Amino acid sequence: MSKNTDELFKNVIAHAKEYGFVFPSSEIYDGLSAVYDYGQFGAELKNNIKTYWWKSMVQLHDNIVGIDSAIFMHPKIWKASGHVDGFSDPMIDNKDSKKRYRADQLLEERIAKLNEEGKTSEAEELQIEMDNALKAENLPRLRELIIEQNIKCPISGTANWTEVRQFNLMFSTQVGAIAEESDTIYLRPETAQGIFVNYLNVQKSGRMKIPFGIAQIGKAFRNEVIARQFIIRMREFEQMEMQYFVRPGTQKEWFEKWKETRLKWHLALGTDAAKYRYHEHTKLAHYADAAYDIEFEFPFGFKEVEGIHSRTDFDLSQHQQYSGKKMQYFDPELDENGKPYGNYVPYVIETSIGLDRMFLLTMINAYEEEDLSTDEKQDSRTVLRLHPCLAPVKAAIFPLTKKDGLPEKAREIMDTLKLDFNLQYEEKDAIGKRYRRQDAIGTPFCITVDHQTLEDNTVTIRHRDSMKQERVAAADLDKIIGDLVSW
Ligand code: GAP
Repeated sequence: MSKNTDELFKNVIAHAKEYGFVFPSSEIYDGLSAVYDYGQFGAELKNNIKTYWWKSMVQLHDNIVGIDSAIFMHPKIWKASGHVDGFSDPMIDNKDSKKRYRADQLLEERIAKLNEEGKTSEAEELQIEMDNALKAENLPRLRELIIEQNIKCPISGTANWTEVRQFNLMFSTQVGAIAEESDTIYLRPETAQGIFVNYLNVQKSGRMKIPFGIAQIGKAFRNEVIARQFIIRMREFEQMEMQYFVRPGTQKEWFEKWKETRLKWHLALGTDAAKYRYHEHTKLAHYADAAYDIEFEFPFGFKEVEGIHSRTDFDLSQHQQYSGKKMQYFDPELDENGKPYGNYVPYVIETSIGLDRMFLLTMINAYEEEDLSTDEKQDSRTVLRLHPCLAPVKAAIFPLTKKDGLPEKAREIMDTLKLDFNLQYEEKDAIGKRYRRQDAIGTPFCITVDHQTLEDNTVTIRHRDSMKQERVAAADLDKIIGDLVSW
């Protein structure tokens, strides 16, 4: 990360805290690693991102429905899904510092360093060795590579490493009051399984016909060992996932369609297309036959925001086997030979976006330190150029002064608008300062009520991006704001 981008990222984190977007969790107790709380404006922004996703995925598709499944699920589900046996990272501890690292990450960093130093063939060789060891789950070989490369712990500076062990990322807890009789259950590491286990319920109760989708927004939990880069990698986070059930043999076509549709969703927010790219997975998860990430260029480099996965019939077949319930779909339509497709286990295309990563992307994209200096004076402002639909507060209403009936008039105007828009009332400080505070949280409009308002019921409205002001009738505010901020 260059000095400028490093500084930009630090400034965004500081801004998010100062203006009530994101706080470190349990901060008065010195925080809890990789856990964050969303503040008053953060919660609004997050809700608006969810609404944007829900509207475009559920509301605009008459064959996609949304559900809200429980976080706690039957423990067998995680056995069937492969998470109990396979959802783990290879970890290694440094005996001197007692710090734990992901073995593959240590090697990835070494490969990056070799490339930086121009030792590309050495880097390539190491990459192949590491990939082979990971594929074969050869943990001793991973350790050997770390030792051979003389990789040292950044804390202790020594290469005194333990064995490499698999570390499962699922959090577990107990149900049942009496310890001996209780059962271990897991906090879900993805929302997708809540969709798979409700596939039959939704298909039958909604009389859904293939192809159809089930969408869900909800919390997921992973005991990430390496927590880094603010809300990019958290232990408690939110996902917005959609499983699209298709006829076997059509999965490639649907995969391409969803890959495109999802990138369009990102770009429709006005983000520069050059900031996005696809990344094709060469190492596929146990359930997938194709996978692409949609990556965004964060200040610290391109990082995954969303995954599009072709999950085959793996999940439904596994649940069929473990639960003993038939997950088949009867397709009455005729194929090209005039024969009914009949019974089959549907294939699944999944779109899975991390809400917190989308939130960070949105903040970084919107954040600008704007120089407003003129020949006469130096000036600047920090403005969040959020898409108006995502802005936490749509308009702020200011009485010019705290007297002469202006606060009452401002409140009266606010009452006519607050059912439709999230508004803020502010009467403290000079107008200029109030503008700056609203710019910093991305409010598209500031409305000032002055003495003229009492005479002719007009107000000044100031636009966040251009900072231009105009005089308009208070009766037109609903339309002016609505035209910009409605979906
Ligand atoms: N159901 C598929 C699935 O969960 P994933 O790639 O593991 O796939 C999907 O996760 C998305 O969830 C990622 O693209 C990322 O945006 C987000 N995500 C995953 N782990 C995360 C974490 N520890 N903190 C924040 N977001 C995370």
